[in-house]
Amino acid sequence: MAKNYKLRILHLSDLHERVCLDWMNEERKAKVRSGAASRYRVFGPSFIEILKEIAHEGVIDLVCFTGDIADWALPEEYESARIKVRDIFDAAGISENDFFLVPGNHDVQRKSCDPIAEETRGNAWRKIREYAIDYPERVSDWLTGQKPPLGAKGEWVDQNLQRGNEFWRWVAEDLGLKELHPSKSPHKKLGYQVFWKKQKLPFPLWIIGLDSAWLSGDDNDEGKLYLTGKQIDLLTTDKNGKPLEGYRLVLIHHPITSLADGNEAFRKLSGTVDLLLHGHQHEPNIRTTNDPDYSLRCFASGSLYEGDRGDNWINSFHLITTVLNPEGRPLNYQIQFFGWSPNGHWHRTDTFYKTSRNGLLALDVTNEGKCLPVAKKMRKEIIQKENNVSGDLAGNNIVIGDVLEKNKREVLPKMVRQVRNTVGGDLAGGSVFKNRKND
Ligand SMILES: [Fe+2]
Repeated sequence: MAKNYKLRILHLSDLHERVCLDWMNEERKAKVRSGAASRYRVFGPSFIEILKEIAHEGVIDLVCFTGDIADWALPEEYESARIKVRDIFDAAGISENDFFLVPGNHDVQRKSCDPIAEETRGNAWRKIREYAIDYPERVSDWLTGQKPPLGAKGEWVDQNLQRGNEFWRWVAEDLGLKELHPSKSPHKKLGYQVFWKKQKLPFPLWIIGLDSAWLSGDDNDEGKLYLTGKQIDLLTTDKNGKPLEGYRLVLIHHPITSLADGNEAFRKLSGTVDLLLHGHQHEPNIRTTNDPDYSLRCFASGSLYEGDRGDNWINSFHLITTVLNPEGRPLNYQIQFFGWSPNGHWHRTDTFYKTSRNGLLALDVTNEGKCLPVAKKMRKEIIQKENNVSGDLAGNNIVIGDVLEKNKREVLPKMVRQVRNTVGGDLAGGSVFKNRKND
């Protein structure tokens, strides 16, 4: 009898932590101070309360944060963020070993108070970008230790990467997550590939952090950032270049559609990962992108606090629940959306998708992530039945394979027939009105 496993992932993003410091000009100080109260409201006791509620409903296995935890990548911002991160650990009932994060463009020190550093670093990222446009593969190789393209200076790479040092120092030393530091990764300069060891599973569970922010420079980064082919290859495959076995979860800050090498990333990642989580856009998005050859599932989280343009987006985050088979293949996903109300509390929200109910969206992987409107209620019921008998990764793995198979084999076709008879069409072809010509 096959065992299936439930994995619950809390996906957070874009905190943009800010602090007020003496050396800042008055305009900037005023901006930070004026937003402090509303930030406290959104990220204060109400947020902790909703996390405790989620943890009470079931074990949270992983907390994933997809970038821009700080606003200017200042040490004082990270110290302030550390306190918030510890509060999240406590409320979610996780340890630091279950917390994974990647840098965003705001975690790169794009401006420096030191004019010499400013000139050196500024020169480095601009020059590397120029070379990447003409020679993306040469730049990709350069970052892994091969010779720079003709005319480029070898030291530019490290000068550029220094801008992310404060973020990675904080991750490795203050949070104690040394194995996430890029120096430990197969790439050595970018990202990480970590085997999540906490739970005893019959399959490996990989967390892959891709650094999309390393070449960030200004507010016009769209279409100019590179993951590089080598970063993707080295972090999403094993030593022999084969796709990793088990479940493969990727964290990245930018949507790959905004990257200069996004098409290459799409093709490569579609064959090597199961789910990609990202942030940056400050708006939740649940999408499976398909072309004739490839398919990639990407979930974006909203922002925890947007900052100056806070009124443009509802602050939000989501909880992802997936059921995995004994090989680590995902069978379905449920996404529970939470949003911040202007009335002053976090709540389950249907603001983002009209097909969600009480903030819950159910996706059947066998249907490539589509949530068919007429079948969604039925699918929700099936998933609820699964959950009633399923366990969690904390050691209560209960057999649900038979229930799932029975639902797929018997219940689903029966209900589809009922719907067809009711509407006089079919679900797959969108032709439910074809018998209404004479209406
Ligand atoms: Fe960002």
